[in-house]
Amino acid sequence: MFIYDEVHLRSRCNEAVTAWPNGVAYATKAFLCKEMARLALEEGMSLDVSTAGEMHVAVAAGATGPDLVLHGNNKSDAEIDAAIDHGVGRVVVDSFDEIDRLQRLSHGLPDPISVLIRVTPGVEAHTHEFVTTGVEDTKFGFSLQSGAAAEAAARLRAVPSLELVGAHAHIGSQVFRVDSFERAVAMLAPFVVEHRLAELCVGGGLGVAYVTGESAPTMSEWADAVSAACVENGVPQATRITAEPGRSIVAAAAITVYRVGTVKSLPGVRDFVSVDGGMSDNPRPVLYGSGYEAFLPQRTTHERPRAADVVGKHCESGDFIVKNASLPEEISVGDFLATPVTGAYGHTMASNYNKVPRPEVLFVRDGRARVVVKRETLDDLLRLDL
Ligand code: LLP
Repeated sequence: MFIYDEVHLRSRCNEAVTAWPNGVAYATKAFLCKEMARLALEEGMSLDVSTAGEMHVAVAAGATGPDLVLHGNNKSDAEIDAAIDHGVGRVVVDSFDEIDRLQRLSHGLPDPISVLIRVTPGVEAHTHEFVTTGVEDTKFGFSLQSGAAAEAAARLRAVPSLELVGAHAHIGSQVFRVDSFERAVAMLAPFVVEHRLAELCVGGGLGVAYVTGESAPTMSEWADAVSAACVENGVPQATRITAEPGRSIVAAAAITVYRVGTVKSLPGVRDFVSVDGGMSDNPRPVLYGSGYEAFLPQRTTHERPRAADVVGKHCESGDFIVKNASLPEEISVGDFLATPVTGAYGHTMASNYNKVPRPEVLFVRDGRARVVVKRETLDDLLRLDL
């Protein structure tokens, strides 16, 4: 099960709202359920949604159009129509085909749709290649260097039912160096000035420490670096500088708790500790080689001298949760095992591989736990199966 500390979530939202006073959206892809969307809204964040599904959950949680920022590199007619019906606050435009689609679908609307151009600043974010988005070779956005972004601006300006309000860039995720954002701002500033744009959204991407020894910039260090870079690069003071963090809001707020099912010692090889989940609730180790720590919640203060691989129950050798985890000497069948910092991109990327039902999600506050997403049942696995 995923267990979120509600106070932690709220304080992270608060930090974000304080650091980005002109507006900050929570990137719902990091973790979304109705309760999470409500919490972010209550704390003053808007919501970045990138599919009809994320929009549907956000609206079910009480979000109204102005709360929503719609992303996506391939928004369908249905997604754009739904966004228009809800009165979406911002659409972040990603391609020329999308401009055609938006023009067609917004034709004749009484009020224009506010749009931002997603710009590729051509900046390397020093992160995993799968979560790098700011370089020229990417499926996202319009290139600054090639002039595509300028052409997009001209096309958008010519459509009366669309109002170009700003530029947007997201350079990647799990970014540890604020200078990557500073360089992005330096690239974007002339575009913002030349096109007299009222808004600049620097996307998400603030990194999070997952394992011992890592450290990440704070929310305010990130925001301060961006705003200093804006001043330095001549972005007019009245420009609304905004951001849309996901991971840094939710990652450290949750732990995943598993039950140990087998402990296998292969002398001279390694020890394997198998838990009742795996790549179906956390595919990040397999996808990105991401590291985690592992603890036994009933022995958190014990030394952890024992090296073992914490593995899942799926039929793949690559199904590991923590390679070479440090664990207490004593570990037995039936013990709980927890992996901290699993609040982002775990539940959202969970699957039913091997028909393993997805775990439940609990929010904990003042010593009390409540279920916010139920555990899937075996019958749920048959719900859509005709
Ligand atoms: N804005 C846009 C346009 C994005 O594409 C993303 C993340 C964010 C904001 C939020 O970024 P964050 O603050 O969470 O880094 N599954 C990967 C992460 C993929 C991120 C995709 N886009 C992982 O587990 O590391």
